[in-house]
Amino acid sequence: MNISIFGMGYVGVVGAGCLLRDGHRVTGVDPAALKIEALLQGDSPINEPGLSEMLAAGKASGRLRATTDPREGLVGCEMVWICVGTPSRPDGSLSRDAVEAAARQIGTALGDLKARPLIALRSTSLPGTTRQCVIPAIEQTSGLRVGRDLRVVFHPEFLREGSAVPDFDDPPKIVVGEAHAGDADPLLELYARYPGLRFRLSLEEAEMVKFCDNLFHAVKVTFANEVGLLAKSLGVDARRVANVFCADTKLNISAKYLRPGFSFGGSCLPKDLRAILREAALRSVRVPMLEATLSSNAQQIDAFVARVLAHRPRAVGMVGLAFKPDTDDMRESPYVTVAKRLIGEGIKLRIYDPGVRPAELIGRNRELVQAALGHLEELLVPTVEELRSCELIIINHATVSASVVRSWLGAGIRVMDIASIPGLDRTPPGYEGVAW
Ligand SMILES: NC(=O)c1ccc[n+]([C@@H]2O[C@H](COP(=O)([O-])OP(=O)(O)OC[C@H]3O[C@@H](n4cnc5c(N)ncnc54)[C@H](O)[C@@H]3O)[C@@H](O)[C@H]2O)c1
Repeated sequence: MNISIFGMGYVGVVGAGCLLRDGHRVTGVDPAALKIEALLQGDSPINEPGLSEMLAAGKASGRLRATTDPREGLVGCEMVWICVGTPSRPDGSLSRDAVEAAARQIGTALGDLKARPLIALRSTSLPGTTRQCVIPAIEQTSGLRVGRDLRVVFHPEFLREGSAVPDFDDPPKIVVGEAHAGDADPLLELYARYPGLRFRLSLEEAEMVKFCDNLFHAVKVTFANEVGLLAKSLGVDARRVANVFCADTKLNISAKYLRPGFSFGGSCLPKDLRAILREAALRSVRVPMLEATLSSNAQQIDAFVARVLAHRPRAVGMVGLAFKPDTDDMRESPYVTVAKRLIGEGIKLRIYDPGVRPAELIGRNRELVQAALGHLEELLVPTVEELRSCELIIINHATVSASVVRSWLGAGIRVMDIASIPGLDRTPPGYEGVAW
């Protein structure tokens, strides 16, 4: 395949080298004349293990071209990768100037060329960039219509500098964002013999995936470092702790606790976090990310209550009150806090939680829930059907079926689903979640 790559930086040059090695014809396009000169000699403009050999072999085979002229770079092209930089501006925002400029150059050139390549944006871009910036720029400058004459997809890159070639060859995943189903088919065919899970998403979802990954990596490093500081101050070798932590692939290095949902609560997490923060303060150890965790957690409740109140319901139903299903433990349950706040706003509340039987509550569990919801017996209903008289139902526990939820929606009841009931998509009117 003839592939043109706009942006001969780390991402673009690694892609060029690997695609050349795979037998494709590659044209590198970049306004930086020095980079183009290097490529024309078969040299790599960046330092990355294994890359020089691949570019030299590509040059020797006659399949590597390079130019500073976007139009020349697109002659006979079947696919374009846009790999230009998206650096930070002084205010922290991401500059999409280079992305837009490249899109306009590509559109201008395609306006008077026969080529109708698939265009893949690979630069890390905020959700909305492909649809609201790249596609309009190409359409305005080319006079062509994306979807009818051309296909534009978003295709994030996950390589790490220093191991970029092995990362390209063995990607953690291959993600494509499409405006129309099937748009990315030629791109996925290019990867036919590559390993890795494939994901087809909307343009915006694919754009967000890249940020989700990078945010998580930043949080992981900071988490490990804050635990390291704490452990050192307590005379503990955090590397040995981390070995055990990372060996647990059931609860720690796993999808557990990583689904967007609602505040954490219960008898352990808030208590133990507070304990460690207190210990850190006594030792003058600053752990800002862990410190912010409690306020971030409380903020989830504030934002959710505000969303419920925005609908101005008089009667609200709740499925689940304990901090999770199949327990009657309500200690620091965020749902108890939500219930208390809604009652405080004068809302008539009905709660269905078959695991909570007031007569059987004992000890601290009983004391805490009585302090928050003194008349719990009056709030609880014995069957889920009794929530049907409410205008809005909050699902905290996934203990109701999709068909029950559909029947509520059919009856005009608004449903706010924190638990993500399986079998429902986000489309029915009146149905919403916390993170979608
Ligand atoms: N570097 C990484 O490890 C990495 C990994 C994944 C994703 N990304 C993302 O990929 C994108 C590129 O990153 P990078 O590190 O390769 O950037 P880079 O700064 O190394 O290279 C960008 C290149 O684009 C060129 N360029 C600018 N405008 C152009 C235009 N109109 N036409 C053609 N070329 C143009 C620049 O001259 C430069 O050579 C960024 O969005 C980055 O966030 C980077």
